[in-house]
Amino acid sequence: MKVLICIGSSCHVRGSRQVIETFTRLVKEHGAEAEIVLSGSFCMGACSKGVSVKIGDRVYHVKPEDAEDFFREVILEEAKK
Ligand code: FES
Repeated sequence: MKVLICIGSSCHVRGSRQVIETFTRLVKEHGAEAEIVLSGSFCMGACSKGVSVKIGDRVYHVKPEDAEDFFREVILEEAKK
């Protein structure tokens, strides 16, 4: 499963680097490197609400402080499907 994290300037300002660091750490902690592939993306045209994270066709908006919960509640659940 591919998870795209926006590294466009607006998302960068909202903490995309921190989101990527949190996801990277959690992927390792869960030993899920084979199932969950993290990748950077340019602006997704949805800059207003937080760091844009795309999984499949869906774009989510993640705040750095919510990245850990998002990983457990959305990314891990999606990866199980
Ligand atoms: S900069 Fe991330 S969606 Fe535009």
